[in-house]
Amino acid sequence: MATLTRNDTPHFAEGTRFLVTGGAGFIGSNLVDHLLERGFFTRVLDDFSTGREENLAHLQNASGFDLIRGDLRNPETCAAASRDIDIVLHQGALGSVPRSVEDPRTSNDVNIGGTLNIFIAARDAGVKRVVYASSSSVYGDDPAGTKREEQLGKVLSPYALTKLANELYGDLFYQLYGLQNIGLRYFNVFGRRQDPHSVYAAVIPIFVKALLAGEAPTIFGDGLQSRDFTYIDNVIQANLLAAAAPAAACGRAYNISFGENTTLLDLYEKLCSLLGRSIPPLHGADRPGDIRHSLADISLAREHLGYAPRFSIDDGLSATIDWYVKHLS
Ligand code: UD1
Repeated sequence: MATLTRNDTPHFAEGTRFLVTGGAGFIGSNLVDHLLERGFFTRVLDDFSTGREENLAHLQNASGFDLIRGDLRNPETCAAASRDIDIVLHQGALGSVPRSVEDPRTSNDVNIGGTLNIFIAARDAGVKRVVYASSSSVYGDDPAGTKREEQLGKVLSPYALTKLANELYGDLFYQLYGLQNIGLRYFNVFGRRQDPHSVYAAVIPIFVKALLAGEAPTIFGDGLQSRDFTYIDNVIQANLLAAAAPAAACGRAYNISFGENTTLLDLYEKLCSLLGRSIPPLHGADRPGDIRHSLADISLAREHLGYAPRFSIDDGLSATIDWYVKHLS
């Protein structure tokens, strides 16, 4: 499979300096690799609560790499991290719908308080652009088969609420202070380095880990719920396009996905076939806070950001499985 190249992402002036929050995490560390490969100074802010040392271990002596260990909830840390930075890619957050249902306060403090700290720090440091991670969960119980940016339902989890609050702050900071920012509503991102070990892991790493161990994973509900699973390289491309988009694109959030939905049962079948396993799954109760169907209309991101995802779920799954087989077996 072809991989993302520098031709897939826009040009930035030589000497452009990036901050990636959550840079030790799954999405963040993949962004960091791409930026460093292109020769840009890249600072990471991460507290390693969910990020992993091993995601950055290969960069210890890399030129242009800087690491700040710190917590998004601390305003001074965010201010120090934003100093002399041109572009912030804000990926740091506590993921997982079930985590937020069990512990809404910590998700609130990190995801809303932390994002507010980053917006304030970026404004005060004269950062040119902030691109931040929002989520498809903001659509909540919107019954539309295909999600369009302007039509939202009622949120179904504290996690979704935190991401919606980020978008409201983004809009407000653009209006009030002129802070250029763009939110990316990620739809179920997957790929290399997505952590399979946490109790709050996402479905693809959970299923792959179980299958590699010869165990049956549990599908919550009937398995006919669907997701617009999005390969990491599409998300890297979206972040860089958003960082370079015209100012007219700022102050709002865009759907970022491949634009195709897959049921959990179909996903499971694809994984079994890629891994050469035939293990019937277990079925459990519906998961609280779950959205039933999630499919994006990505035309707004195409129009305003030039987003044209190159990697389908099948492209992404085969590359991802290769990675897990090497790193988990
Ligand atoms: C949600 C967001 C996603 C966000 C992510 C952050 C939606 C539609 N998507 O993902 O954009 O990035 O939170 O954490 O809100 N499942 C099983 N068995 C398992 C684990 C999960 O059947 O062992 C099912 C879940 O019930 C769900 C689906 O798989 O229906 C996907 O779950 P998960 O990977 O946790 O992601 P979302 O909650 O959909």
